[in-house]
Amino acid sequence: MMLLETTKLTRAYGGVVAVSQVDFQVREGLITGLIGPNGAGKTTLFNNMTGLDTPTSGKVYFKGADITNRSAHKICRMGIARTFQNIRLFKELSVLENVMVGLHFKTGKSSTTGRVMAAFLSYLKVVDEYELMNESAIKWLEFFQLESLKDELAKNLPYGHQRELEIARALATDPTILFLDEPAAGMNPSETDSLMKTIRRIRDLGITVVLIEHDMKLVMNICDTITVLNYGQNIAQGTPAEIRHNPKVVEAYLGKEET
Ligand SMILES: Nc1ncnc2c1ncn2[C@@H]1O[C@H](COP(=O)(O)OP(=O)(O)OP(=O)(O)O)[C@@H](O)[C@H]1O
Ligand SMILES: [Mg+2]
Repeated sequence: MMLLETTKLTRAYGGVVAVSQVDFQVREGLITGLIGPNGAGKTTLFNNMTGLDTPTSGKVYFKGADITNRSAHKICRMGIARTFQNIRLFKELSVLENVMVGLHFKTGKSSTTGRVMAAFLSYLKVVDEYELMNESAIKWLEFFQLESLKDELAKNLPYGHQRELEIARALATDPTILFLDEPAAGMNPSETDSLMKTIRRIRDLGITVVLIEHDMKLVMNICDTITVLNYGQNIAQGTPAEIRHNPKVVEAYLGKEET
């Protein structure tokens, strides 16, 4: 059984069919890449697997259970976490508090605005839960070597660190599966290199990783298996070597990259 899969998933926005009849499979313990040209439907597919969007037709299964119409919040509590193509941090909260938001989601209450979150965190200080969450959040910051920046406001972090912080917050929800939407976007080569190692370390924690990425060096290096979307359709899946030599993929996408 696949850890997560979609069957004939379709998402149309009026006349635009962003994702068309896609069968997508995620095997437990692997790093799965999702690639394809701009506008191919990658983010839309992520949104439809994580409850941020609802498919026009088709199904999403997680551990065999149909999760097609569940809310993002419920899906998160089931063990599916994600980051966003455009970083979504609570910019006015500290680095530490941003990770604590993830821990908070794990406990099951939901609130999504920075202001509500700040109020919640000060409430925790009163009820002594703060120390516990504090410790756990710091563990995740240590994983990313961000602990010395814990009191900085998120908005003051360099871009690469903001991306890592978003991953730390997602990990704090204690996921089985982690979706990363272009985690290397905007990173310099040394940040990308360090991200590659981090993603392997996440996999080594037993977390299944699904990754949208345009950086082909990163994708080809760390993915165990890759699925390629083009105009909303799944045109290929296989190992990096198979994908690299697939004529359809070269024609649709890789041709431009490999010059
Ligand atoms: N909410 C929406 N309303 C209307 N059209 C949308 C919406 N979201 C996505 N689309 C369209 O669906 C198609 C797929 O977009 P999507 O963002 O999924 O592509 P992508 O593969 O993630 O691209 P990129 O690599 O540029 O991030 C595009 O044509 C896009 O304009
Ligand atoms: Mg996208």
